[in-house]
Amino acid sequence: MRKESERRADGRELIYYHADGDTADRAPADRAGERPADAVLVTGGAGYVAGPLVARLIREGQCVVVLDDLSTSSGRTLPAGVRMVRARVGDAVALREIFSGWRIGAVFHFAADSRVGESMRQPLEYYRHNVRESLALLEQVVAAGGPPIVFSSSAAVYGIPGVVPVPEDAPLAPINPYGETKAVFERALHWAEQAHGQRWAALRYFNAAGAEGAWEPKTPETHLIPSVLAAAAGGEVLRVFGDDYPTPDGTAIRDYVHVADLAEGHLAALRHLRSGGASGAFNLGSGTGWSVAEVIVAAEGVVGRQVPRQAAPRRAGDPPILISDPSKAERVLGWKVRRSGLREMVADAWQAMRGATAGAAPGDPAGVGAR
Ligand code: UFG
Repeated sequence: MRKESERRADGRELIYYHADGDTADRAPADRAGERPADAVLVTGGAGYVAGPLVARLIREGQCVVVLDDLSTSSGRTLPAGVRMVRARVGDAVALREIFSGWRIGAVFHFAADSRVGESMRQPLEYYRHNVRESLALLEQVVAAGGPPIVFSSSAAVYGIPGVVPVPEDAPLAPINPYGETKAVFERALHWAEQAHGQRWAALRYFNAAGAEGAWEPKTPETHLIPSVLAAAAGGEVLRVFGDDYPTPDGTAIRDYVHVADLAEGHLAALRHLRSGGASGAFNLGSGTGWSVAEVIVAAEGVVGRQVPRQAAPRRAGDPPILISDPSKAERVLGWKVRRSGLREMVADAWQAMRGATAGAAPGDPAGVGAR
């Protein structure tokens, strides 16, 4: 592994290891003979949803190893102290190096392709990244003695639920390849436990929203809240995908959950597994649904400007209504949303996006208002 370090403006050092096939330079913790007890591996740790969890782990003083290929993020928002291995999740060299260089006591597996619409157009890519590469990780975890895995699953495993709010024992009936790949990996975890005693929690996020800490603009941005805020700030007109759904205002309804609450859910799931609690799937959502039209109204209130919008056809693979029944996570994990009010999530996203724009160079196309 090739080591690279970057000194940041705040004087702190960020360490990267690149898994590029050169295995001469091993993870330094190993070379120094000081394998830290129980490092935590976070795949996809440089991403939007993992960020608040990584920040909490570092604040707790844990040794955090992030495995990320930086395909959708730059890594610049990672807190100092993180050991960052730049490689894909299924990279055999990187996995070997990580599991021989550190004693991994827990794994948070976030890394995935996660755009529903894109998965409809490129299903095989989704199987390759979300199933095949995840299985390579799982094999390595099992071989390393089976530290508990907390897996980023999704409400997309339910498809169009027959019951709303949807409980965890509802049938898994995904209607897009993204949800299908998440369901497949949940089943792999189940069978790995039957055969090898692998402990796991699959956290079925509803719609991750809000922000905590730094914001990295995405190109293209496909998610509703940042798209609405960008439109309010003078960017592209918002396209409302479907205004003829069987909902009170005709627009699709989602259960938005703050990324800070999701981070707490991950910590609670790991505590649960470590204290001998049963493996299984948990919904992480607020239990409240908001329509696209209601999100627009909230954003107009936060920004103080109208959101220019136009009606557009339904997006392929989109269910009309998704709302969680979060009572299992509340009862078993002792988890409850605290920051998932719609206005708070929209305001936090707005503040973070504005912070990112303030830090961007003039004319930076990645700033708020441009997508
Ligand atoms: N929408 C618009 N216009 C936009 C963007 C989104 O009308 O410009 C609509 C969508 O059609 C959908 C709703 O806003 O009805 C929410 O869309 P998002 O793209 O923000 O989120 P999704 O519900 O499609 O997907 C999210 C995650 C997935 C996860 C899914 C589970 O991105 O990873 O929630 O519900 F699988």
